[in-house]
Amino acid sequence: MTMFLVRTAARTAVRTKSCRSFCVSHTQLSDRKGLVLGVFEKKEEEDEGTLHLTEAAAGFDKSLSGKLSELLKLSGPALKNGKSRVFYGLHKDFPCVAVVGLGKNNAGVCRTENWDTSKENIRQAVSAGCRLLQDLEVSHVEVDSCGDAQSAAEGAVLGLFHYDQLKSKKKTKVTTQLHGSADVVGWEKGIVYAEGQNLARLLMEAPANHITPTAFAKTIEEKLAPHADRVTIHKRPQAWIEEQQMGAFLSVSKGSEEPPVFLELHYNGSPDSKQPPLLLVGKGITFDSGGISLKPSASMDAMRADMGGAATVCASIVTAASLKLPVNIVGLAPLCENMPSGKATKPGDVVKAKNGKTIQVDNTDAEGRLILADALCYGHVFNPRAIVNVATLTGAMDVALGSAAAGVFTNSDWLWEQLHRASVVTGDRVWRMPLFQHYTKQVTDSQLADLNNIGKYSRSGGACTAAAFLREFVKAPHWAHLDIAGVMSNKDEVPYLRKGMSGRPTRTLVEFAAGLAHNG
Ligand code: BES
Ligand code: ZN
Ligand code: ZN
Repeated sequence: MTMFLVRTAARTAVRTKSCRSFCVSHTQLSDRKGLVLGVFEKKEEEDEGTLHLTEAAAGFDKSLSGKLSELLKLSGPALKNGKSRVFYGLHKDFPCVAVVGLGKNNAGVCRTENWDTSKENIRQAVSAGCRLLQDLEVSHVEVDSCGDAQSAAEGAVLGLFHYDQLKSKKKTKVTTQLHGSADVVGWEKGIVYAEGQNLARLLMEAPANHITPTAFAKTIEEKLAPHADRVTIHKRPQAWIEEQQMGAFLSVSKGSEEPPVFLELHYNGSPDSKQPPLLLVGKGITFDSGGISLKPSASMDAMRADMGGAATVCASIVTAASLKLPVNIVGLAPLCENMPSGKATKPGDVVKAKNGKTIQVDNTDAEGRLILADALCYGHVFNPRAIVNVATLTGAMDVALGSAAAGVFTNSDWLWEQLHRASVVTGDRVWRMPLFQHYTKQVTDSQLADLNNIGKYSRSGGACTAAAFLREFVKAPHWAHLDIAGVMSNKDEVPYLRKGMSGRPTRTLVEFAAGLAHNG
């Protein structure tokens, strides 16, 4: 009771003429509320002081008789895109108000950037505002939709994510809520999309001794448990992989003491249970040491994220299930470690894939294409309407595009259009790469076998020869391979993701699946 009285008193505003002040007791510090509001840039022809507050910000300003716009002008120059400023004690319900710059109003889709600039600006601004408030240990933040509640929610949830599971000192947990907008549906959708990407980030960032193939499969099983009515999961053990004659996959897993798992997910969201599924296949190397072709030790730790393909594919299926997308999806994730040992595959060894093709393994570090080869062969049994595989496949992909976009190698213009459209919406971009016979010739010319797991001109066009290799295991007319090695981690390039493993392109995969669902 006493506590209640103290808190009520502390929240009471003391008003003296035009000056307001609010007392904040210590008991309140831990549950202070924050507010993030947006402001657009002024048009070129307008005066310096012109302010373009969003609808929610204007409403808030009005409730304070213009105090917010007054302070914004007083406190410094107009807020540039992505910049923010915090005001304290302005409102009794919100001790901290972060105002964020949204850039030009109605910027829309930019043809050269291949993304929706308005959406990207909102994600960036909202994430900056939320993070500022998180640093001030504000535990609940209300967020302006800024005219696009989904993008605002994505900015908030992606921006606040921080992997501190294994640290004693954690960042403040912040809950978020839509402010001053009725678009709760858009907001909720954005939360689910962003949480999907955060699940992939969590799996990718986690150390390899925590996320083993077995632990990965268990985590996904747990995440899918609430959707058991529409989801079937198979955690295929080593004996099953052997029965399936997946010799290429087994040649990678055999160097490690950790047992491999072939994870198979079925999401039946379509009212027509017979509708051919979308097949998603993800590279699931939970640690890539390179095997006998051992990688240099500098930055080898990043290879804990070499299951980024499996993480983004499985996270997008969890997200599709949460959204109840009316589409059928099959997800496949060959999961294992790539380790050197007395039992490991040696350079020059020849192995046989599920489709009978023989492969000379000249470099054991080119292991992703081996495990995907068998998964792609197997995937055809589901008669998929389209196959999309996702893999942190080559360092060459990072050299080619860096972290700007994932490379897409596809035999289908239709599939390319679908993926590209989705990526413009999400801002998590894709860029089309070639699947020329030129590259096929470089992987089919092998001394001992049908194929070689590396191109004969070694590093040249490394991402393209890897794609050409995968193509040898695909018969379907609509197949795309996404090489996500370049977008695997974030330093500071994507402003609404903190430094660390990115979980890209989970939202693009979800948006792509949603597109298929809604276009029949
Ligand atoms: N997992 C790596 C590719 C990679 C590199 C992903 C950097 C993310 C960041 C892959 O298994 C690999 O090692 N590929 C080799 C292939 C080469 C031996 C033909 C590479 O890219 O160097
Ligand atoms: Zn490798
Ligand atoms: Zn790898």
